[in-house]
Amino acid sequence: EKTGFIFDLDGVIVDTAKYHYLAWKKLANELGFDFTEEQNESFKGVSRRRCLEILLEIGGIEASQEQFDRWLVEKNEDYLAYIAEMDESEILADVPKVLNYLRQLDVPMALGSASKNAVPILEKVKLLPYFKAVVDGTRVTKAKPDPEVFLIAADEIGVAPSSCVVFEDALAGIEAANIAGMTSVGIGSPEILEAADHNFWDFTAISTEFLDNLIRQRNN
Ligand code: G6P
Ligand code: MG
Repeated sequence: EKTGFIFDLDGVIVDTAKYHYLAWKKLANELGFDFTEEQNESFKGVSRRRCLEILLEIGGIEASQEQFDRWLVEKNEDYLAYIAEMDESEILADVPKVLNYLRQLDVPMALGSASKNAVPILEKVKLLPYFKAVVDGTRVTKAKPDPEVFLIAADEIGVAPSSCVVFEDALAGIEAANIAGMTSVGIGSPEILEAADHNFWDFTAISTEFLDNLIRQRNN
């Protein structure tokens, strides 16, 4: 059985988690309350719509459907303005090293993200060609921690879920990978991502030996 690798996008491949945070914070401030980085943790891996629901709960704000939809558009426009000038410099450290290593071993790779902006972002940073499948927020109906996004990705790269490795910076994403029966690798705080099978602060700490071991383990 071949091993497959599935990558989350925001906060794993590119440094966009901070822009999502800034756009939500701006909206919160406009509505008259603050939004902290700690509160932002629960937004990682969560759909735009669900994030706005949580934000309005935090602020104790009730909105009509129309107003809700306007705020959704406003947040995304602010986010798009942040990433408009995005280029390869926003790729997180050593991510290309890992992607190139896996590609050279002919390991199938997929993207598994809740973002509806995934494809344009991958194009901007020129990483789209690395992925055999891109499963994003335009294609999934059930949000992480539901494993749907990763199960579709596994299917599209033709690898059994139990032979897939998932890289995630969100707790909801680690849970989704675990539920799918995949090996989960947490990127970020090991305290927050305690549920992961392996933890790294970032890709600079991931060695080729570690990748080789994952491939070997999952192969038997
Ligand atoms: C990722 C991010 C979330 C974001 C979601 C939707 O999962 O971690 O913070 O809310 O994508 O992103 P979008 O680009 O569609 O607003
Ligand atoms: Mg993420």
